[in-house]
Amino acid sequence: MSLPIRIHVFPDADGLTHHAARTLREACARNAEGRVAVALSGGATPALLYRRLAEDYLHEIPWGRLEVFFGDERSVPPHHPDSNYGLALRELLSKVPIQPEQVHRMPAGESDLELAAECYEHEIQRLVPPGPLGDPAFDLVWLGVGDDGHTASLFPGTAALSRTESLVVANDVPRLGTRRMTFTFTLINAARRVQFLVRGRKKAAIVERVLGPPRDDAPPSEPLPAGRVRPSHGTLEWLLDREAAAGIADPGLIA
Ligand code: 6PG
Repeated sequence: MSLPIRIHVFPDADGLTHHAARTLREACARNAEGRVAVALSGGATPALLYRRLAEDYLHEIPWGRLEVFFGDERSVPPHHPDSNYGLALRELLSKVPIQPEQVHRMPAGESDLELAAECYEHEIQRLVPPGPLGDPAFDLVWLGVGDDGHTASLFPGTAALSRTESLVVANDVPRLGTRRMTFTFTLINAARRVQFLVRGRKKAAIVERVLGPPRDDAPPSEPLPAGRVRPSHGTLEWLLDREAAAGIADPGLIA
């Protein structure tokens, strides 16, 4: 039985990124002296958060205790402009006191992507302690949401959506004509805390479709990938700015 979804609406991206940064600080404080496992996302909104962390939380986070993973990656080399790892490295990881061995890049540029995904899964199982269901439970997973309702690289209509027996998989995305590597719902939903980071008017429609009440005139349909993120034992928060929340009548808690 999942906990209610918490929706936080902020006047702008500042409030949203500060709330997310403080969440990481709290996760570290809660974990006393232990390691804290966090999964980063790609996207413009997560990028703002990385900048915020580097600029305002350099001395607030015990960077040496983090194990940093990536929720998904494009099939490009690490320093390619499209790489989620490259984005995090530029905006955050090159600016804070974290050792290379604490950063676990998703090897999505490998030719045998399924084997690479299996290796990444094993690395997570080795370093991220299990939660109540026995799957590795990240302390914090940050996600974005695409205009089509995808999250991580779990795109509508793709095979990864049903790969619930695995934690990390390769995923063909015909709409983009590319392959990706991604966490599965099983791994995301095992997390102790998941936060969606969403801002801007462009996202209001998809946020309404994912979080709003079902429309009377709409035929029953499969939930969008972002709507299938419901941690079984952890908390789920949607951090929205006012523009992205425009379609949500009464933000607060959604059962
Ligand atoms: C990716 C991201 C993806 C992203 C969303 C939102 O690799 O594409 O992981 O899931 O978070 O597309 O991106 P924006 O915040 O830029 O809209």
